[in-house]
Parts: sequence; C-alpha cells; structure tokens
Amino acid sequence: MIRICFYDTKPYDKIYFDELKEKYEIEIDYFESKLNHKTAVLAKGYEAAVAFVNDTIDSKTINILIENDLKLIAMRCAGYNNVDVKAAAGKIPVVRVPAYSPYAVAEHAFALLLTLNRKTHRAYVRTRDFNFSLNELVGFDLHGKTMGVVGTGKIGRVFADICKGFGMNILAYDPYPAKDFGVSYVTFDEICRQSDIISLHCPLTKETFHIINKDTISNMKNGVYIINTSRGALIDSEDLLNGIKDEKIGGACLDVYEEETELFYEDMSYKIIKDDILSRIISMPNVIVSSHQAFLTKEALYNIAETTLQNVNHYFKNNIIDNEISYKNSK
Ligand code: NAI
Repeated sequence: MIRICFYDTKPYDKIYFDELKEKYEIEIDYFESKLNHKTAVLAKGYEAAVAFVNDTIDSKTINILIENDLKLIAMRCAGYNNVDVKAAAGKIPVVRVPAYSPYAVAEHAFALLLTLNRKTHRAYVRTRDFNFSLNELVGFDLHGKTMGVVGTGKIGRVFADICKGFGMNILAYDPYPAKDFGVSYVTFDEICRQSDIISLHCPLTKETFHIINKDTISNMKNGVYIINTSRGALIDSEDLLNGIKDEKIGGACLDVYEEETELFYEDMSYKIIKDDILSRIISMPNVIVSSHQAFLTKEALYNIAETTLQNVNHYFKNNIIDNEISYKNSK
C-alpha cells in the first residue's frame, strides 16, 4: 500500500477519493489543515502529499517536505500558481490534474452571468417573501452581444461554444490561438474596447497578473460585465471596485478573489472580515461572488480523484511521472 496524506480536506473530496483508493492500492490520511510551512511536517512518514489551490507550496514548505522524506507532491487541481515550481525542480516531482471537466467551470461561469444579468438570485429571495414586484429586475438580451474570451484553452473553448449557442458574437485573445477553433482572434486591447462582457479563462502568470486593472478598465465599454472563474489575481481588486463605484463596470461575476486563501471554502459568517475591498465588492448590487466552486460537479470531483490517484500509483509502482508540472514549461 502507498501511504499518502491529504491536505485541506472537505467532505466532498473524501467521497470520491475513498471510492477509488483501493483500486489504486493507496491508503489516505485526511488532514483539515492547509499545506504551508507550518503544516508540512505532518507529511512525515508519508510517501506523497495531495494538495489544492489555496495551499502555500513555497520554497520553505517544499524544503520541509523534502527533509521529511516526502517523494511526491500531487496537486488535485489544474492551476499551480501556488507552487514554487523552481524550488521543487530537480528535488521533488510535482504532478497535477490538467483537465477534469472544462464543462464544470464553463457552465458555472455562464450560470453566474445569467444570474447576474437576469437577477434570478434577487427574484428568488423576493418571491419567497411574496414580493412580486419586478422593479430593478430588468436585464438585457445576451443574443447579439459581444463576448470577449481571454484564453481559449479547454475551458475558454467550452465557454465560447456556450456563448455561441446563445447567439453571441465571440472575440478571443490568446497568445497561442487555436487553429481549429472558429472564432475571431484579436488583441487584448481590442477585447477591452469591443466586448460587452469579458470572461477570463487564462492561467495566472507574470504576464496575466492584474491583466484587469485601471488602465485596461478605462479602455472598456461603459457598463461592461467582467467574469472571472480563473484566478483572483488576474484582476486588481481595488481597481475593479473603483470601476464599479464609478459605474464604468456594469457588473462582475467572481468565482475567485486574489486574497481568497484564508477565506474561501470556510464558513466565515460569524467572523469579522478584515478585507475591506472584498466586503465592499460583495456589498455591490451588481456583483455575484461564489467561493471558488466552478469545478464543483460530481463528474469533476470523480475525475480529480481518479487522475490524482493514478498519478500517485504510476509514480510509485512504475516510476512514471504523469502530468508533471515542469519548471521549464511553467516559466
Ligand atoms: P488551458 O491550459 O487548457 O488553457 C489556458 C489558455 O490560456 C491556453 O490556451 C493558453 O494559451 C492561454 N493563455 C496563456 N497565457 C495567456 C495570456 N497571457 N493571455 C490570454 N491567454 C493566455 O487551461 P484550462 O483548463 O482552460 O483552465 C484555465 C484556467 O482556469 C486555469 O489556469 C485555472 O486558473 C482556472 N480554473 C479554475 C477553476 C475553478 O474552479 N474556478 C477550476 C479549473 C481551472
């Protein structure tokens, strides 16, 4: 049996990992704590550690894991901006789940858009209180509007296909345009100038950090909607807030937030939230925030468990590193 430890465990993770662990001859101990330099020592005695999007896998954490004889870090997610890949290079392999359900994320992004635009969240609350007024519930037709898709990888392409089904015009920006995808590629500047709605589906890198900021917002159409289901730090949150206050931005759908690590996935309803920017953003009537849940479908959770356990099993049984995050590719 291969022994692994599992950080930042939630009940919905356990269901699928427990279902599949015997098939891959893996024993799992679940920890509720996130992985960081303080909790890395818990990995002593295990062969691999399984981690997630809000774990802090910096050089300090990596060194402690190695000192404790850990052999593999298995990310149970696609994005890996929270891993210091350079610090791990040549010392410990880091693997990930490159794709588990682009549909889950793309459908959630579109669900947020439909909710915000047609104000179904408000209608639901109103009618439960027998308030049948329609005041302030006016939306707009998506048909004929222009959607700017930033990043046309697995998720961006599914999202663009959903938009096409709604009769929207699609503009796309990607430094590596897909040749077999029938959309018009333009510059990021054109996306800003021409789109009624902009949806972010690119990874967080040095190039994309704060790609939405006061300068790029100033180029956008008045009343633009911004959707972010990728990574919080693609957006400068303070600039977004100012854009909403100035009524330049007409609405925002946010599944991610740049300072989400200590907040998202936890019940903070009885806590004093110290983050004034997030509090103010959430208070806006034209903003919907979900708690990094775009991936949360049964199919995605099953695929995450299956690929993560396969990655671990292949490494220890066959010495094959599947789905490695290599420093060379991440630069
Ligand atoms: P992917 O790797 O298939 O596609 C990413 C695309 O972004 C590629 O086509 C790439 O060329 C493009 N790209 C790279 N640099 C860019 C730039 N500077 N500007 C515009 N595009 C750029 O990745 P996938 O699976 O489509 O995922 C996209 C992102 O979605 C992930 O990086 C992750 O951050 C996020 N994600 C969020 C989840 C959630 O639950 N909210 C779940 C899964 C992924």
